[in-house]
Formats: sequence, structure tokens, C-alpha cells
Amino acid sequence: MATFRKFRVAGKVAESDIITSFYLEPSDGQALWEAKPGQYLTLRVPGPDGPVLKTYSISNNPSGSQQYRITVKRENGLGRAPDGVGSCWLHDRVEVGHTLEVAAPRGTFTLNETSDRPVLLISGGVGLTPMVSILHKLAETDREVHFLHACENGQVHALRDEVLGCVTDRIQARFVYRNPSELDQQSELFDAEGMIDKDFLRAYLPIGDYEAYICGPAPFMAAMYQMLQELGVSKDRIAYEFFGKAALLKAVKKQVVPAVAASRAAAAIQSLAYITNPDAWASDDEGRLAKEPVAASAGTLSNTQVEFRASGATVDWDEAAGSLLELAENAGLDPEFVCRAGVCNSCRCGLISGDVEYFEEPLEMPQAGQVLICCARPKGSVVLNL
Ligand SMILES: Cc1cc2nc3c(=O)[nH]c(=O)nc-3n(C[C@H](O)[C@H](O)[C@H](O)COP(=O)(O)OP(=O)(O)OC[C@H]3O[C@@H](n4cnc5c(N)ncnc54)[C@H](O)[C@@H]3O)c2cc1C
Ligand code: FES
Repeated sequence: MATFRKFRVAGKVAESDIITSFYLEPSDGQALWEAKPGQYLTLRVPGPDGPVLKTYSISNNPSGSQQYRITVKRENGLGRAPDGVGSCWLHDRVEVGHTLEVAAPRGTFTLNETSDRPVLLISGGVGLTPMVSILHKLAETDREVHFLHACENGQVHALRDEVLGCVTDRIQARFVYRNPSELDQQSELFDAEGMIDKDFLRAYLPIGDYEAYICGPAPFMAAMYQMLQELGVSKDRIAYEFFGKAALLKAVKKQVVPAVAASRAAAAIQSLAYITNPDAWASDDEGRLAKEPVAASAGTLSNTQVEFRASGATVDWDEAAGSLLELAENAGLDPEFVCRAGVCNSCRCGLISGDVEYFEEPLEMPQAGQVLICCARPKGSVVLNL
């Protein structure tokens, strides 16, 4: 069971019109948990019906630091939807001296420190937070780094000066504004206008045997993932982190990006079917990316059956699926999920009979009779209320 520790807000810094950083230090005066650049913290924040869990990437280099920093975009409903519960609470209610409940760092979107290959860090919007953390770590090494960041304009561009402060002969940073303001144009705050497309990547990146890290909105990530492969980066060298919700991920396939500038991203977006585990290195094969439903008899361990009672489907457990969530998706079902890492509880469903085991310990173990299907596999046949 996860332990939440109390952290004092030691600093609150506006990084742009919509993005604010919070510096957190343990209230007990003890050391920080060990954390790798790229990992995220889980905060317990008040929601309308009780506490909810929200995850935020660590945006500083936590090694050797006395504070974690998280950098949060205020998710404004703009009158068309309710304001974001966690981000607006942090922005509007949390001040220096307040106490937050925080669970230990998690996540596998971390720098491959055993490699000496050149690194591409590519972010869109607030997706730059884990990148900045990784950038600081890379600044301590001899590796070549290209930091590419896309955002709307200078008003929403966070941590710009901090990133520029890391630039050296071997660390380059480029900023692409989709819709630069007049002030941005006058001050030459950006390197290119429009969207990151293949021409931009070709123009700015020397030929190299890159490892790439991507984080940003789903269509952005999908486009980058596709373009990098088209430029020869093998997909097992592309890591990505997904911040959004399942509903956004599914929309990736259909979304058409407005032709703001001469970008070929839109075509790439439309041809990419699906991104799976947001937390994992993107090593899925094309079959899984395409998410084709499989026949009920396609499992490899036929003694173990999984019944999705509410959907009226029964399938053989397939070890290759990895989790009950993926098994359900492979069977053509559409379960809820967000984190796919045992953190957010959104994949929780009823366990009507049978037993499961967790290959990733949930942040908060579900009650008896419930299961987090993103991080569980069956121990013998099971019946789920799904
Ligand atoms: C691994 C990971 C790391 C992350 N790191 C960061 C980070 O570093 N910085 C960061 O800012 N975020 C980060 N996030 C995202 C963060 O966890 C939250 O998802 C984000 O802050 C939004 O949460 P919220 O509670 O404010 O919004 P929610 O309440 O979850 O709402 C999300 C959006 O939906 C809209 N909405 C709400 N209700 C409705 C409705 N009924 N109809 C239509 N729209 C609706 C809201 O207006 C809002 O825009 C990360 C996410 C993950 C998974
Ligand atoms: S999807 Fe978040 S806990 Fe399963």
C-alpha cells in the first residue's frame, strides 16, 4: 500500500500565463524519496466527491536536491466544461506554506543512463516537464542533446530561460510557436513558426543514432512518433509519456490538425492507429498498435478463461496480452483507463469470481471484490464485471 507523505509547498512560481511550478519539500525534514528524472509524483487532492489522485511529472533534477518541483498547467474549462479539478485547485488554492499529500515517485519514462547515444527531447505544451528534468540530468553527462519544444506562443511557454540556460556546444534547444504574437516576433523568442514537421527535423537535426523521448498532447505525440520512424529512428528507441485521458488517446486516429502552417504532421496523425502504454517504451508491434479484436479462441493458455460478464464475452487468457486491460482491449472491449500503471483507479472494475495477481503494485490496493485491470493478470479463471 502506498504511503502518502506530507510535503510543504516551499515555493510557487508562475512560469507562464497558464503554467505554475510548485516546489515541495518533506514536512518531516527527512530526505526526499529517490527519484529518476522523468518520473512523476502522485498527489491526493480534494475532488467534488472526496479526494482524487492526480499525477505530475517532476520537472527539476531530483538527484541531490532537497525539493521536488512540479509544474502544472491550469486546465481551464473556459466556460464550456468544468475547470480541471486538480490543476485549478493547485493554481487557485495552494500557496507557499500549505501542505500537500504526495506518494512516492513512479513511472518508467526515464532516461536510459546506460547509453551514450545522442538524445532528442521533444515536447508539446506542458509535456516539457519531464523533459526539463531529463535535460538537467543530461547536462551532467557528455551526451549530445537536442531539446525541441512546441507550444502556442511565448505567453504560454514555460521554463524557456531555464532550458536556454542549459544550452552548450553539445546541448541545443529549439522552440516552435504555432501562433506567435507580435511581441514574440519582435523579440525573436522562437526558432520556427507552425508545427514541428519532417522538414523542420531535417533542417535542425544532424544525422545521428538518436534515442528520442516524446511528451505532449496525443496528436502531437502521434505525429512525432510517426515522423521519427520515417526519419529512421527505430521505435524501440522512442520513449513516450502520455499525460491525457483515454478518450483523448482514442481521438488521435480521427483528429485532423488545422493547417496552421506547412506541416505534414496531420497526415502522420491520421495514419497512426493507436498508442498503447503511455508509461512504456514504445516497443509494441504493429499488430497491437492496430488494436484489432482477436477471436475468443486466440489465447495461448486455454485453461484460464476470463469472462467479461457485462459485455457477454469470454476469452482465453493470453500471456502475451500482459494485463487484463489489454486482454479486454484485444477482445474488442473498451474499458476505461488513464495511467495504465496502477495509479489513477480509472480501470477499476468488479471481480465477480476468481483471483488475480498484480504485476505492478497498485498505488492504493482496491477493496475486496474489485480489481485494477491495467496491472493485474488472472490466477486461474476469473469473471469480471466488465
Ligand atoms: C504520467 C503523467 C504525468 C503528468 N504530468 C503533468 C505535468 O507535469 N503537468 C501538468 O500540468 N499535467 C500533468 N499531467 C496531467 C495531470 O495529471 C492532470 O491530468 C491534469 O492536471 C488535469 O487534471 P485536472 O484534475 O486539473 O483536470 P480534470 O478535472 O481531470 O479535467 C481534465 C479536463 O477535462 C475538462 N473537463 C472536465 N469535466 C468535463 C466535462 N464534463 N466535459 C468536458 N470536459 C470536461 C476540464 O476542463 C479539463 O480541461 C500528467 C499526467 C500523467 C498521466
Ligand atoms: S488505468 Fe490507472 S489504475 Fe489502471
